[in-house]
Formats: sequence, structure tokens, C-alpha cells
Amino acid sequence: MPGLLTPLEFKGLVLRNRIVMPPMASDVATPEGEPTRRHYDHYLPRARGGVGLVIVEHSYIEVRGRLTRTQLGIHHDGMVEPFRRLADAIRETGARVAVQITHAGGATTEEVCGTRPVGPSEVPHPRTGKAPRALGEDELPALVEAFAAAARRVRMAGFDAVEIHGAHGFLLNQFLSPLTNQRRDGYGGPLERRARFPLEVVRAVRQAVGPDYPVMYRLGAADNLPGGLTLEEAQAVAPRLVEAGVDLLDISGGLGGSRPAGAPPGYFVPLAVGIKAVVKVPVVVTGGITDPHFADEIVREGKADLVGIGRALLADADWAKKAIAALATS
Ligand SMILES: Cc1cc2nc3c(=O)[nH]c(=O)nc-3n(C[C@H](O)[C@H](O)[C@H](O)COP(=O)(O)O)c2cc1C
Repeated sequence: MPGLLTPLEFKGLVLRNRIVMPPMASDVATPEGEPTRRHYDHYLPRARGGVGLVIVEHSYIEVRGRLTRTQLGIHHDGMVEPFRRLADAIRETGARVAVQITHAGGATTEEVCGTRPVGPSEVPHPRTGKAPRALGEDELPALVEAFAAAARRVRMAGFDAVEIHGAHGFLLNQFLSPLTNQRRDGYGGPLERRARFPLEVVRAVRQAVGPDYPVMYRLGAADNLPGGLTLEEAQAVAPRLVEAGVDLLDISGGLGGSRPAGAPPGYFVPLAVGIKAVVKVPVVVTGGITDPHFADEIVREGKADLVGIGRALLADADWAKKAIAALATS
């Protein structure tokens, strides 16, 4: 069985190992959403440390979907050049690099996004306690197109892949979750209809980037709230996402956030195992993993194909370098 340091190829993209820097908002963009020097300070040391794949933090597809005022934005063509410089700098280290594209939907606030936040239904969001304005069916095609246009820019900027954010209680997760989606039209109700908007986004992204470009999806594979999305439901959706054009599933969870308090290391491994059982594409797992031997075991035991190292990489930019040395001598 391959281990953490075994290279991985998917959709023609070759990663030097299976260590992933998962998207982590450094939240130091200009008010216009452009990368700053501080993004380079955030990504380059960690990429140089030997990470296989860097996923640049969540970047909004339209201003109405931003979560903070200093979030990265890939919402218009003027962002292609500034993002290209960041992509080039990270790629030069030998890491491969993706960007996560997102819409916060009902998880943001009017002060930040400039209008009443929008979501699938007018029910309070677990992050804010406030209810967004429910999107009309006629408003959805423009949002699908905004995701597609953002993905096209990611490709134009020279990134190796795009990741669609479908976790942590943001817009696509809001559509999939029975807690935040209580629509009675063709986009709500049974799972199949709740999955319709995320699937439309994936198909449009695939169309926009072409057949050969790697598309990843961060799937919130369980809401971890009473009455929320379950792993069984996520297992039904995952193969549909793949059919629609996803080449890699990045497994996370939590409608209210990705870091359940007091959870043991590898707390989302059971979700990854459940999703791996129903798809053939590579699966990433992230969550509380800090020990390189444990990360290696997850891969060797076939529980996931790649491992995301978040806060441990924030704490130590050389995490990958040390992991490579530790695993090489063991
Ligand atoms: C400061 C910070 C910012 C984060 N920003 C994002 C983000 O932009 N997109 C995302 O999908 N997850 C985000 N996350 C979640 C991480 O990608 C990861 O799933 C989580 O931290 C659990 O992994 P860990 O225990 O290795 O840190 C963030 C986490 C942290 C700590």
C-alpha cells in the first residue's frame, strides 16, 4: 500500500507526496480581495517545507458571498494576474497548488457583504443565528455562472486545480443540509433535490475549465447537528458529484465549523472511510492530525489517499520537512 510520502497522480496532476495544506483563511487580503505580501509569508514557507498540495484559502466568487472584509476574492477578471503571481511563487517550490472557491451564503453578515445575506431558506444559520433572504429559483443560474467564472479564472491564473467549497455551512452545504434548506421547490425537500444546486455548480465548473482540468470538491460529509446531513446521505451524493465532474473529494464536516471541540485526532477519518467506500476518486481527510506516523497509517490502511495537515502546519511551517525525515528513518 502507498504511504504518506508516495507520489500520487490524479487527472494528470502529479503530487510529490500526499501531504496537503488544507485551505486555511489567513484573511489578510486587501479590501478588494487581492493577495498581499502576507499571503506569500503564509504559503511559501509551508510549501517549501515539502507539502505535496497547497489549497489556497477560500476565495469568494462574488462580493455578496464574502465572509470577511479581508478575504481573498476571485470574483472578477482583474484578479487573474494577482492570483497568477501567487500561484507561480507556490509552484516554484515544487508543491502543486489549487484555490478554493466559495460563497458564504447565509453564513455571512450584511455589514461584510453589503446586502442582506442570501441562502436557500429563511431559517437561522447556526453560525450567525440570523436568517438569510431565501434565493428565488430565478436567481440560481447567475450564482452557478459565478462559480463557473471563478473556476475559469483559477485555471487562467495557472493554478493546478480548483476546489469547490461544499462544507462548513457555506452556500453549497446550506443547500445540501436539511437544516438550512427547507425549500419546497425543485431545489429542496428530498436529498436528490437538495443536491441539485451543488451538482449544477459542479457541472458548470467542469464545463468552464474543460474536460482535462482537475476539479476537487470539499464535501461536508456530515453536519454533526441533530437532524442534519448524515454520512449515509453524503454517501448517496458523493458518486453523483463524481459523475458531475469531480476528480477528488476533500472530506470535512460540520455545518457550524470544521473543528469540533475535544474531538480525537483524525476525527473525520470515519467520514473519509465511508466516502471512499462509494467512490473511486482520491479522498483527502483532514482534522486534528498532527503525528506523521498516524498520517502515514491512514494512507497505508487505505482510509484516505491524502491527508490534510491544518493547524499543525500553522504552528510549524516545517511540519512536512520533519514528517519526511521522520518517515524516511522509520
Ligand atoms: C485559521 C483557519 C482557517 C480556516 N479556513 C478554511 C477555509 O478557508 N476553507 C476551508 O475549507 N476550511 C478552512 N479551515 C478548516 C481547515 O481546512 C481544517 O479542515 C481544520 O482546521 C481541521 O484540520 P486541522 O485539525 O488539521 O487544523 C480553516 C481552519 C483554520 C484553523
